[in-house]
Amino acid sequence: MRLDKCLEKAQIGSRKQVKKLFKAQQISIDGQPARSLSQIVDPDLQDIQVSGRKVELEGSVYYLLHKPAGVVSAVTDQEHQTVIDLISPQDSREGLYPVGRLDRDTEGLVLITNNGPLGYRMLHPSHHVDKVYYVEVNGCLAEDASKFFASGVTFLDGTRCQPAELTILEVSLGYSRATIQLAEGKFHQVKKMFLAYGVKVTYLKRMAFGGFELGDLECGAYRELTSDEIQHVLTYFD
Ligand code: URA
Repeated sequence: MRLDKCLEKAQIGSRKQVKKLFKAQQISIDGQPARSLSQIVDPDLQDIQVSGRKVELEGSVYYLLHKPAGVVSAVTDQEHQTVIDLISPQDSREGLYPVGRLDRDTEGLVLITNNGPLGYRMLHPSHHVDKVYYVEVNGCLAEDASKFFASGVTFLDGTRCQPAELTILEVSLGYSRATIQLAEGKFHQVKKMFLAYGVKVTYLKRMAFGGFELGDLECGAYRELTSDEIQHVLTYFD
């Protein structure tokens, strides 16, 4: 079949999006950049990749999971249960992986898919995917806290962060609650930001990611994205 048909079938994106990927040399066949979108390919015999991820032809699946604390955001792990272990055998597919990571002790929304290139696209810094976290800390978030986060936190090691929006929900001397919205995804970012302010995160839960919300999905449960939501996901290929 033609390469463009193959990519359409694999839900890689709109025709326009696929053209852009082709021009950017993000599409490869057996390790070589694709020559033309009309070239004939056989996905059973050839390794077709977009942005370094294998294209799966069966049609991609997309699950929104409420990760419990204690479960790791990985495909396999020697010691701990993974987010992929929470997908039932009938919903499981070859190539499922979590888009981005939450720490083992963090709870909340994780997007799981077998659309290989999606993770690369959503996590690319140019896309500024918004994340919202609910946070509990072991200290006081004083009046100046919102300003501190809005002006761009500097980690204790000197790393600079972009501005983040803090909404304080409850404050006392030894305990405060808040939500924080940010567009970056640095390692342990939320914990390090609060540490820079001078408090320790005692509970962390991701409430929203890239336009998706956890809503009332039970801890440990997952659901398939609706077709409108899949259309939204594919806009990350724009
Ligand atoms: N920030 C953190 O510190 N941990 C997470 O799991 C996610 C964001």
